[in-house]
Amino acid sequence: MVFNEDCKNFLPLIQDKKIQLIITSPPYNIGKEYDDNLDLEEYKEQQAKIIKECVRTLKDTGSICWQVGTYVKGKKRIPLDIYLFNIFTDLGLKFQNRIIWTFDYGLHSNNRFSGRYETVLWFTKTDDYIFNLDLVRIPQKYPRKKHFKGDKKGKYSCNPLGKNPGDVWYIPNVVHNHPEKTEHPCQFPEALIERLVLSLSNEKDMVLDPFAGSGTVGVVCEKYNREGVLIEKEPKYCDIIDNRLRKYVEQSKLEV
Ligand SMILES: C[S@@+](CC[C@H](N)C(=O)[O-])C[C@H]1O[C@@H](n2cnc3c(N)ncnc32)[C@H](O)[C@@H]1O
Repeated sequence: MVFNEDCKNFLPLIQDKKIQLIITSPPYNIGKEYDDNLDLEEYKEQQAKIIKECVRTLKDTGSICWQVGTYVKGKKRIPLDIYLFNIFTDLGLKFQNRIIWTFDYGLHSNNRFSGRYETVLWFTKTDDYIFNLDLVRIPQKYPRKKHFKGDKKGKYSCNPLGKNPGDVWYIPNVVHNHPEKTEHPCQFPEALIERLVLSLSNEKDMVLDPFAGSGTVGVVCEKYNREGVLIEKEPKYCDIIDNRLRKYVEQSKLEV
């Protein structure tokens, strides 16, 4: 479901505790074509209101993943995850991970190290949350390693399903020659969202992105049988979402 709306107006229409997972990347307020260019405190207040509404819609087993980078204005630089962190904990959410998403391409700096990561803050509503670790395990470095002494001698010493992917994820970002690239200037790679959708929701669950952009969360939901709820205020980005979803559905029909 794609809603061409401002999430500030649309979120209040969603019932309490309907949504299992919220994944989003809000505007960083750094002068992109879709940014409001607010004063930083005003930006924080606006984010706080939106986050509060999001949390209201979340089930007790639910998770919220807020993906951000660095706010830059003139010489002022602020890591937005640190700046926004208290908003989540003040609402009683439980902090689970600060995932480092690292990639190869970005602006080159001469007066500091070039930024090559952004973060995903993951919080849960309660301690009783969905976490399907086995669905997102990655290959072990030494899968055939065995215990060499003790009771377990001769048995495999690592999980045959693979290892926990940890909280530092190298996933190429979507730049001009990336196969998933659309006209949207700041697109999530599907691989980043896949890991979150698979581990933090079950099939048929509702997954919300209040700042949907090019609709990556929606495409991943189609792929893994979740119900995507996408809110995007710009009509031209909603067109991109519609095209992506249509293409995905047409392609998957051909593969059957
Ligand atoms: C950082 S981009 C998200 C990109 C997205 N993660 C993707 O994979 O394409 C933020 C998006 O939020 C949209 N946006 C900004 N303010 C909004 C609001 N109040 N309500 C709904 N959408 C908004 C912008 O138009 C922009 O497309």
